[in-house]
Amino acid sequence: MNESLDMTADASPAPAAAQNVNPNAPTAETVLEVEHYTDRLFRFRITRPRSFRFRTGEFVMIGLPKEDGRPLLRAYSIASPAWDEELEFYSIKVPDGPLTSRLCNIQPGDKVLLGKKPTGTLVLDALTPGKRLYMFSTGTGFAPFASLVRDPDTYERYEEVIVTHTCRENAELTYSQNLINDLVNDPLVGEMVQGKLRLYTTCTREDHPRMGRITTLIENGKLFEDLGVPPLDPACDRAMICGSMEMIQDTKNLMIAAGLTEGSNSAPAEFVIEKAFAG
Ligand code: A2P
Repeated sequence: MNESLDMTADASPAPAAAQNVNPNAPTAETVLEVEHYTDRLFRFRITRPRSFRFRTGEFVMIGLPKEDGRPLLRAYSIASPAWDEELEFYSIKVPDGPLTSRLCNIQPGDKVLLGKKPTGTLVLDALTPGKRLYMFSTGTGFAPFASLVRDPDTYERYEEVIVTHTCRENAELTYSQNLINDLVNDPLVGEMVQGKLRLYTTCTREDHPRMGRITTLIENGKLFEDLGVPPLDPACDRAMICGSMEMIQDTKNLMIAAGLTEGSNSAPAEFVIEKAFAG
């Protein structure tokens, strides 16, 4: 059972008005697992209420109660797929960040607040049908793609799925590399990913087999050369973009230059964007 977080609730009989528990108030979920990758990145899993529905790729508000009892919430992409019984999140740690400086200390058994209204545009339905799906990510922008690569629907809709992940340092690629390497053993999508899914990692501030920003590698054609695929083509290529504001803007400009049109839930098209959680 999820606790109600309505702070008006207590053991004594409440006045009639206070009994109107806010139906949109976050629920308190239990932390099940925490894994730290670097001093800047970690992932955690929490319980998922039976009533919590979302589409693979969406984000939701999560957070912690503040000392004054009011919740401190931020938008987070859900990193687990819609079929999973638990919820996974991939987070940055910002030393002076109001939420992440505290969230990074959570332990199994602790409570995390979960909003009730998942939403977002990095969903398969916001794209028109195509052959090859690109997921371009930097930093924690990989999170929604951690959800999408674990969903069979992704492989039913596309012949080829290419995930790119660019970070400053090698250690920041651990989450995406482990997750995608392990997918071949996944009972649900293990067979589907073989020959269809590829992860293309690059680093910008440390030695790595592939160096440089993804925007540079799209612009100079190295991405397509390395992958052995033709340049972007609106007839068959679709793209999802998630990273910092600047990364999104620069990558979006390259999609537009290649002739792709931005889509949304109400008007699906050839690429979609979403800002990664930042602080
Ligand atoms: P760089 O090291 O050249 O800044 P951050 O942790 O700051 O969000 O960065 C994550 C990754 O995104 C880094 O490798 C960074 O490269 C890259 N990046 C930052 N800005 C852009 C941009 N405008 N376009 C493409 N990649 C970017």
